[in-house]
Amino acid sequence: MTILNQKQILLGITGGIAAYKSVELLRLLKKAGANVDVAMTAAALRFVGKTTFEVLSENPVITDLWEDSHGSVAHIDVAARCDAAVIAPATANCIAKLAHGLADDALTTTFLAVTAPILICPAMNTHMYENIRVQRNLDILEQDGVHILDPDTGTLACKTTGPGRLPDPWVIVDRIVHMLTAQDFAGRQVLVSAGPTLEPIDPVRFLSNHSSGKMGYAVARAAEMRGASVTLVTGPVNVTPPVGVNTVFVQTCNDMAEAMLAHMDAADIIIQVAAVADFRPDQQKNLKIKKTSDQDGMTLTLVQNPDILKTMGDCKRPDQFLVGFAAETHDLAASAVKKIEKKHLDMIAANRVGGEDTGFQTDTNKLSVFLKDGSQTDIPLMDKQAVAHSLLDIILAQLERRR
Ligand code: CTP
Repeated sequence: MTILNQKQILLGITGGIAAYKSVELLRLLKKAGANVDVAMTAAALRFVGKTTFEVLSENPVITDLWEDSHGSVAHIDVAARCDAAVIAPATANCIAKLAHGLADDALTTTFLAVTAPILICPAMNTHMYENIRVQRNLDILEQDGVHILDPDTGTLACKTTGPGRLPDPWVIVDRIVHMLTAQDFAGRQVLVSAGPTLEPIDPVRFLSNHSSGKMGYAVARAAEMRGASVTLVTGPVNVTPPVGVNTVFVQTCNDMAEAMLAHMDAADIIIQVAAVADFRPDQQKNLKIKKTSDQDGMTLTLVQNPDILKTMGDCKRPDQFLVGFAAETHDLAASAVKKIEKKHLDMIAANRVGGEDTGFQTDTNKLSVFLKDGSQTDIPLMDKQAVAHSLLDIILAQLERRR
């Protein structure tokens, strides 16, 4: 979340029951290093007190244009200095006013003066949200370049079930980061795989590996943040799918092969991060395998799985950029370079597994990236999100060169 560090964010809060979630939103923004100015409507003040936001933001809260504690044009200063602005929750009334340029209270007046990117997070009763007039106003705002975060679907405070719920604060922060990130992957289609594959032995047992999926998910998230349209094909992991990414869940190597090949044609860049199982049991038993008392041991016969990356390398178009990953415990460079040739890759990112800070399950990683011409770039030890961005920088530089 480093992009938010030292950034100036304007947080607008309007009068909906979801206003309580804005407290957590403010806390997350502050935790990420942002300086936050808050503007609230009179209705918002009925749901959450001004003091809470004043204490957490460490700034005066704008609620009234005529009772300004820090200068008569404070709302203009706040609007001028923000790097990004967000209204969460945004009521139908506030959306209508913004869409038509009305400025009849402190919040709408402040937002009318904002020139930085704006994110609107509508939250209201489902029937109100689906009302043609509200949708028309949202369309107007979207056409004006305002970013809209669709509400979540669920049971609302008014007991209606449907769209209208304010998304979780971390999702809103994620979309603010998206708004602030340079869109240098805009127009590109990226296909990423992540996690382990799981090869069933019987209904209760399987073969797999220690892959957490964190690196692949970080790559997918970084590409989406930078404007790419991203599909993530993932084996079973315990990581929340990145916002805005088309996530396809698979189990076995054969499932993953099918999903990757189905999405490959549409992709410009394919990054195979998954730790695919090389072998699977020759047959999957329908019933649980039982042990018998006279049994000494058991033999499991394995057959080789298809090599998904090699299959993609064999059929890729010249305009597609194919990246493999290599998990190595030794002879990192030599093994990685051999895999480039064998699997017809454009690039391979090798990491040493088994170290304390790198590889499976960890939150950090370091990579040695090799190109077809044998050149090597090292990405130092960082958190996996930062490593993912560095990897995308290298890919982008290669694609620029191809032009
Ligand atoms: N890979 C794949 N399908 C497989 C095995 C591997 O697509 N059946 C991909 C991995 O996702 C990775 C790359 O091939 O991007 C290299 O995987 P790795 O496990 O390092 O190498 P292997 O090719 O399996 O060779 P070895 O295990 O002998 O090192």
